Amino acid sequence: TSNVQPSNVTSVKTLTETADLKTIPSIYAYTPTNPNEADVFEDEVSIPVIDFSLLTSAIPEQRSKAIQDLDKACQDWGFFMVVNHGVPESLLKGIISASNEFFNLTEEEKKEFAGKNILDPIRCGTSLSTSNGKIFLWRDFVKLVVQPDQFHAPHKPIGFSEVALEYCNSGRRIVRELLKAISESLGLDNDYVEKTLNLDSSAQVFSANLYPPCPQPELAMGLPPHSDHGLFTLLIQNDVPGLQVQHNGKWVTINPLPNSFLVNTADQLEIFSNGKYKTLMHRAILNNKVARISIAMANGPSFEATVGPASKLVDSENHPAAYRPMNYKEYVEQQQLQSLGKTILDHVRI
Ligand code: SIN
Ligand code: FE2
Repeated sequence: TSNVQPSNVTSVKTLTETADLKTIPSIYAYTPTNPNEADVFEDEVSIPVIDFSLLTSAIPEQRSKAIQDLDKACQDWGFFMVVNHGVPESLLKGIISASNEFFNLTEEEKKEFAGKNILDPIRCGTSLSTSNGKIFLWRDFVKLVVQPDQFHAPHKPIGFSEVALEYCNSGRRIVRELLKAISESLGLDNDYVEKTLNLDSSAQVFSANLYPPCPQPELAMGLPPHSDHGLFTLLIQNDVPGLQVQHNGKWVTINPLPNSFLVNTADQLEIFSNGKYKTLMHRAILNNKVARISIAMANGPSFEATVGPASKLVDSENHPAAYRPMNYKEYVEQQQLQSLGKTILDHVRI
């Protein structure tokens, strides 16, 4: 690593474009916090696939088979690809290219959208430093915090706001269906999750991530291992791999099916299901050739909801509650204050 300090660097993109870097500035050197971070799965593994058209099928046998597949995917992996979801390819391509154009705005233009707080409706930046100490990650981002009737997006580049709104709405619809199915796989009425967690006013956190090519990809990190705070996260990417998920203690690189959504279980689902569906640990690694863009959308309950194990799943004798209830908004805020590699989930676990 070099000792060049990226003074005044507002983004990794600018850092990589203004200097012909052969080595990473030393502040980007990543030190694993966990011993298993080097364990990568070598064998071919097949990632669960959920056919959304079957999940929403009017034929009961088809639907119950798809629900079983979903149940198994959530228990065995906490991860699956959704195909036949009906969201047009043009929208998936559109949000990636609009995000790319956003990152291509000048630093001066982007300044306008540099929010400060985790729940600011619009916040762009780079992982140069955060409230929980100095973390230098090879990643720039723009985040939108979206609730029904509260959509705010940057007015630049032209068209970004419209495509982001449409994308968020499509994702919301898909997650709603997934959670209906999850209600059933938990043995509950199919509107149990949406009623209990008030999904009519559910919160989404949209993050577009840019990981510029890195001269020493094995020494830096895009996003270190973490779990997401919501119920389900939907992710798409440009054609560049980089997402790795933890499976049986090892890291698996995900190569998505064309036009699929990559979906992972997240903290609130683990809590609500009283531990039946564990949250997924995942990370984003780097390469030295091409920029990677991913769009990760965390889909949670309402910020007003207090989430604990579903009361119908708990009985004090055989199935005691394994998590303490917590308000979702507070959960998200508290998570932000945790240091690297730590999770608020450990604090609500009984
Ligand atoms: C995320 O975990 O939020 C993003 C991971 C990725 O970029 O693949
Ligand atoms: Fe994530």
